[in-house]
Amino acid sequence: MKFFIDTANLEQIKEAQDLGILDGVTTNPSLMAKEGISGKEAILNHYKTICEIADGDISAEVLSTTYEEMIKEGEELAAIHPNIVVKIPMIKDGVKALKYFSNKGIKTNCTLIFSAGQALLAAKAGANYVSPFLGRLDDISVDGMNLIEEIRIIFDNYMFDTEILAASIRSPMHIINCAKVGADVVTSPLASILNLLKHPLTDSGLAQFVADAKKMD
Ligand code: E4P
Repeated sequence: MKFFIDTANLEQIKEAQDLGILDGVTTNPSLMAKEGISGKEAILNHYKTICEIADGDISAEVLSTTYEEMIKEGEELAAIHPNIVVKIPMIKDGVKALKYFSNKGIKTNCTLIFSAGQALLAAKAGANYVSPFLGRLDDISVDGMNLIEEIRIIFDNYMFDTEILAASIRSPMHIINCAKVGADVVTSPLASILNLLKHPLTDSGLAQFVADAKKMD
């Protein structure tokens, strides 16, 4: 399973990259706004910097919602760096845009997926990734993991190349459950990745080993 980090924060991207486990980055307009990035030039520059810091696919989301504007914007984003993946919302014009970029060989990530039908349409249109939002489903008392499982079955039935990029991750348990059901990628905040490290028996075991090692000096 690939690990992406879901942030536009350069320090956190660097930290995950330095850990040696990072396969890519996802962003969205809210995450970019949180970093105070605004204006076209600043946005393009920020994506360029992210591509310089992190290896792997970097999702850059279009801000527009009409077919013509998404094409124009997506082409500008794709021109920044070969690792850019154009992130397109799951709307009718978005499906058309996915097909357009697929025909052109530009990679895409279809975002805001909340149903298996949406994932199927995005895969049919040639999306490289679909992003089902687990946490936001859990937030409204719908089991987000069920959606990942449904999409896995459908994509396997028809051998779609589209990768399932589990998004809106809220905890290390989400990451573990995604790995169990075969999500191809999980994109999560740095904190959830780092929480996978933690176990009190590791801490107490290491403290004992360090104490005993001192006896051998
Ligand atoms: C996905 O690509 C989105 O950027 C993200 O995972 C949304 O997460 P949230 O529901 O925590 O905002």
